[in-house]
Amino acid sequence: MGIDDLKPGQEISLTTNSAFYKNVYESKVVAVDKDMLCISMPCYKGLFIPLNVGFVLNLRINTGADILSFTSEILYRNVSEHSLFVRMPTHPNVTENQSSSKSCKFITVTSGKGGVGKTSFIINYAISLSKLGKKVVLLDADLGMANVDVLLKTNTRYNIVDVIDGQKGINEVIAEAPGGIHIIAGGSGIQKLANLSPAEYNRITCGFTYLESHYDYVLIDTGAGLSKNVTSFIFASDEPLVVTTPEPHAITDAYSIIKVILEENRDVSMKLIVNKCETPAEGTEVLKRITGVVKNFLNYSVEPLGYIPESRIVSRSIKDQAPFALSQPSSDVAKAIRELAEKEARDQRGNDARITGKGLTSFVSKFMNLFKNA
Ligand SMILES: Nc1ncnc2c1ncn2[C@@H]1O[C@H](COP(=O)(O)OP(=O)(O)OP(=O)(O)O)[C@@H](O)[C@H]1O
Ligand SMILES: [Mg+2]
Repeated sequence: MGIDDLKPGQEISLTTNSAFYKNVYESKVVAVDKDMLCISMPCYKGLFIPLNVGFVLNLRINTGADILSFTSEILYRNVSEHSLFVRMPTHPNVTENQSSSKSCKFITVTSGKGGVGKTSFIINYAISLSKLGKKVVLLDADLGMANVDVLLKTNTRYNIVDVIDGQKGINEVIAEAPGGIHIIAGGSGIQKLANLSPAEYNRITCGFTYLESHYDYVLIDTGAGLSKNVTSFIFASDEPLVVTTPEPHAITDAYSIIKVILEENRDVSMKLIVNKCETPAEGTEVLKRITGVVKNFLNYSVEPLGYIPESRIVSRSIKDQAPFALSQPSSDVAKAIRELAEKEARDQRGNDARITGKGLTSFVSKFMNLFKNA
């Protein structure tokens, strides 16, 4: 699969590096040449968009069974024939299978209060999904305490900043971690996302396109609270996951963060997890209380995903740098997370048709628009 598979008529979704043209535009392949690709003048809501020579474009071309993604530049435009000529890439940035049933889910884990167990949860959740045969990559987007790699005892030589700087391709910063999962270190690189040059922006969006087409799940760990970069992850992800504990402070802060997210965007499918529960009754009660208050005061149905028991095994596994989903698979806490993963895997099968292949609704498109509109 590569540029040889490009054929007239194939559908394209594209974005530009222009601050003026911020949307995702539709186009089609008109003709394919060795050095140039002729595409129809991009459209948005039925109107032609007169992009200029020199614009940098991110193209996603649906070749049927696959999606081909690359960055290119407009070399010439023919206004009377409504067409553009763009440079043909020698090596497409991303080439990937996307069978009609494949979908990728971006899940961002967040919380109002810090220390509620987001990182412990997401690592073991990732491993549990991987054990179910899912391809999972975990992006550490926690600005303050980027530590997914430490907890997994995995050496990450490079991180997302190397991708933004153009030093590495995203595939080169992905590290293999225990349990068959992959991780990408964020660290200070994540901060850079707040202020990207057009070239940096193109690199990161190509990177996300790569993740979207190579994985079943992209799990994003964030710090507590809402910084600008974190909100972009949350709004772009399919399902923001809010984690809390039964402590009154954590519950109040969970409510506050749900409220802030909804003030920005009600078109998200938020889910809730209560961690560190002393009894099942406590978990059920806290889930009920928060979902009830959110329904009454914010008129929104947050889905109560489940609860996770308090367990000494968690801190032990952190000290040992050995995730409990691997070292203590029959413990209550590992079982609880495994059940959440099993439910997710079942739900995803049911939802595949809804999520699949629609460039406009994908994480990458939403993420691109959020950054462009910022
Ligand atoms: N189910 C649990 N039972 C007992 N302790 C837990 C549980 N989950 C997490 N912890 C403990 O809570 C502490 C914080 O966990 P973790 O670092 O995962 O939280 P976090 O939400 O990622 O924190 P931050 O907001 O700083 O990123 C750790 O010491 C961990 O051992
Ligand atoms: Mg954390």
